[in-house]
Amino acid sequence: MAYESEVQDLPPVTNWKTDWDWLDDQWGANAIDIWNEIRSECPVATTERYGRSFMPVTMNAVAQVAHDTENFSSIFVSVARPDAPRRPAPPITSDPPDHHGHRRLLLPSFSPKNINQLEEEMRVFCRKLIADIGDANAVEAAEQYTQHIPVHGICKLTGIPEQDADLFRDWIYRNFQLAPRDNDVRLQVMTEMNAYIDNILKDRLTTPRDDMLTMIANAEIEGEEVDWELKRGYVGLLIIAGIDTTWSAIGSGIWHFAQHPDQVAALVAAENDDLLWQTASEEVLRYYAPVTMGRKVIQDTEIAGCPMRAGEQTLVTFPAANHDPAAFDNPGEFQIDRARNRHVAFGLGIHRCVGSNLARLEVVVALQEWLRAFPDYSLDPTRKTEWANGQVRGPRNIPLLLNR
Ligand code: HEM
Repeated sequence: MAYESEVQDLPPVTNWKTDWDWLDDQWGANAIDIWNEIRSECPVATTERYGRSFMPVTMNAVAQVAHDTENFSSIFVSVARPDAPRRPAPPITSDPPDHHGHRRLLLPSFSPKNINQLEEEMRVFCRKLIADIGDANAVEAAEQYTQHIPVHGICKLTGIPEQDADLFRDWIYRNFQLAPRDNDVRLQVMTEMNAYIDNILKDRLTTPRDDMLTMIANAEIEGEEVDWELKRGYVGLLIIAGIDTTWSAIGSGIWHFAQHPDQVAALVAAENDDLLWQTASEEVLRYYAPVTMGRKVIQDTEIAGCPMRAGEQTLVTFPAANHDPAAFDNPGEFQIDRARNRHVAFGLGIHRCVGSNLARLEVVVALQEWLRAFPDYSLDPTRKTEWANGQVRGPRNIPLLLNR
């Protein structure tokens, strides 16, 4: 199939209600203010930048889209050019009835029992990263800490080779930051990932090991072997969904606490009071929820009074729903002990995150180890934090001063 190759070169957004763009430079650092401003006027924003596409910003509207698999398909899980090449990455790109079998295949590997076994491994890993910082007084926390943690977790769990981490981060960057506007980049990333995954899956067919890759290489659903393209899709999804997401959540937490020494002091004083660490981690996930998904409208419908036509696209803006005052008391306040926190950072409905146990473990362990090692740290005022735009939002560099 031929795709147009020219990159969409679009002007900066001046009206977020009628012309939103999640790749606009203002999005990364300001998305929460942008959603709040839109919500004060209407529940759903629109744009024509990716064909007609919508952005719901209330909990109600987001939940309606997420739960409605009749009218909204996951065949498009990112809002991109309508002619963008798409590839299957089950279960996230699957609709009922296929979705269920793919999800059931992956779920057991992410059970609480399996994930809890990784806790000590993750703690030792975080401590090693911290030890490598030595006695430096300044640190780039994304480079030296946050970006490595989820790679270690997912590689330990699946058998994906950790030494290829730079490759994964490069795919993730191009896939999320460039590909929504550039079909050539999307195709290149798909081709590179396919070749890489084919290699590791074929290796498991000839040399089986006791790992998730071997399970996927031999995957069957109801006695039928799964197509190779779908097996490849599982692995691609684990690499993409397992790394950038949690890295962003941990990074947001570290960036946040750099500016809130009172909250750091309370957490460090709580020592092993797990409840406070849990509520604080959940608040990081609510406040800085990194993941926004997409859907294709497959039948004409309406969300919060906004008509949507078959063939159009919509975001499922879970992070915006987490700031809806109709769903949370004082959502703009970051409360480390927020008791009632039914956030939707991990999604809603049949596609709710399969990796949430792993993500939660990594977030709480990474924050505990960091704050206990550096109870007094702050943002480096001479350098700027850059935020990733688009589907997975989070700080990509976190320059810090370690006051000791
Ligand atoms: C803080 C970290 C994470 C966040 C915020 C997050 C968020 C999400 C969200 C919002 C969805 C729903 C997608 C949709 O509705 O279309 C999802 C699905 C999914 N996530 Fe995560 N995720 C995180 C970490 C992980 C990790 C570590 C993994 C492990 C590989 C993972 C694997 C998946 C998978 C496989 C799905 C698809 C589930 C399905 O379609 O049934 N995620 N995630």
